[in-house]
Amino acid sequence: MAPKHQAPRGTRDLLPDETAQWRRAEAAARTVLERYGYGEIRTPMFEEYELFARTAGESSDVVQKEMYRFQDLGERDLALRPEFTAGVMRAYLEHGLGGRTRVHRLWSTGPVFRYGRPQKGRYRQFSQINCELIGSAAPGADVEMITLFVDLYQAWGFSDLTVLVNSVGQPASRREYGETLRAWLSPVHARLSEDSRQRLVTNPLRVLDTKDPGDHALFAELGGMPHLIDALHADDRAHWDAVIAGLEAAGVTYEVDHGLVRGLDYYTRTAFEVHDRSLGAQSALGGGGRYDGLIEMLGGPATPGVGFAVGLDRTMLVLQERGLAAENKDAICIVAMDGTRAAATALARTLRREFTVECDVEARGFGAQMKAAGKSGARFLVILGEDEWKQGLVVLKDSQAGTQESLAPSALADAVRAKVHPQGETR
Ligand code: HAM
Repeated sequence: MAPKHQAPRGTRDLLPDETAQWRRAEAAARTVLERYGYGEIRTPMFEEYELFARTAGESSDVVQKEMYRFQDLGERDLALRPEFTAGVMRAYLEHGLGGRTRVHRLWSTGPVFRYGRPQKGRYRQFSQINCELIGSAAPGADVEMITLFVDLYQAWGFSDLTVLVNSVGQPASRREYGETLRAWLSPVHARLSEDSRQRLVTNPLRVLDTKDPGDHALFAELGGMPHLIDALHADDRAHWDAVIAGLEAAGVTYEVDHGLVRGLDYYTRTAFEVHDRSLGAQSALGGGGRYDGLIEMLGGPATPGVGFAVGLDRTMLVLQERGLAAENKDAICIVAMDGTRAAATALARTLRREFTVECDVEARGFGAQMKAAGKSGARFLVILGEDEWKQGLVVLKDSQAGTQESLAPSALADAVRAKVHPQGETR
């Protein structure tokens, strides 16, 4: 019989095996972020609707179709956050952070909400790791952001990553480019998808982001698509050239993608994304860019910024598919006999000061315990045989090394530690 209640459409439960993988990925990310000097900021999961509508852009899909908007009992117009950036900027202004130091490096993680059509890699509640560098207009800030972005994926074991980069210019460059794009598309205007014709009116750049195969066929038919990069004003172009030179110097593998425009309206100049084709249509693992007008848009002083968000759900899907999420579980499983059960429980408690330890609680037989130990994925097995125990010994099996030794219980912790951290290597 199907259970009466199910998780709401577009949401899912993460069970212990998966949360363990997520925690490891989050811990690896935290280390990278801390080493780059980013401080964590936690903002509310909901904000005034107006904050998101203003920043993401009225014409964006996020605002038009995907917002979880609601009224609370006090009739406030609120929305669950569809991204972190707007809330972080609101907090930056509210706490006057700009008056404390010029440059702020902030990161966040947690759930975000978008009412999209659920499919592989697209959920209505999903998680992001979000980073913002606020207060610097220098190309070096963009380069640091992109390098940090790549280093996060590297820490998770991605080795074949290419960052797609583009420049969406400043509003003036963009307006002119919009006209060029309209003129280029005019011979096929009537054959474009409804969505794209609409976008040509509200925000022509977004036409490049169309998912409609018919539109893409028309682009190919026309040929010679005008590139935004070629339409950039001199200062935007100089910024772009400096970012590219910085990426080259840092040895970051990148590709210029002239069609990369991003789905939120606040971007200026640099835009970037990372994709993994194994995800099909929802292939963006993460993305970001510069947003020099955003803080001013919220009533603050002109303050430049650049940032990105990693989609954790999609990243974890790819890690799982590639077998990179599996844990090298340095756990210990204790197998006891009738005469050694109390000793096993006491030994488990002692070892838990330092290691993850599982120990039978049901007085099961030797065979059943060995089977459970095999299933648990624990690297170490400690067997308390009655005869050995009487001689003051236990057996330590290392399934990774395929070795086995007898030793005193008091020597166990040292022996396991030496195997987990060979040559005193620290975690
Ligand atoms: P975004 O490109 O809208 O950027 O989202 C970043 C990532 O979140 C995407 O690349 C994707 O991996 C993931 N994502 C988006 N929607 C979904 C969904 N429905 N289900 C699962 N994953 C999803 C931003 O959110 C910007 N705030 C990033 C940023 C920060 N720009 C500057 N600072």
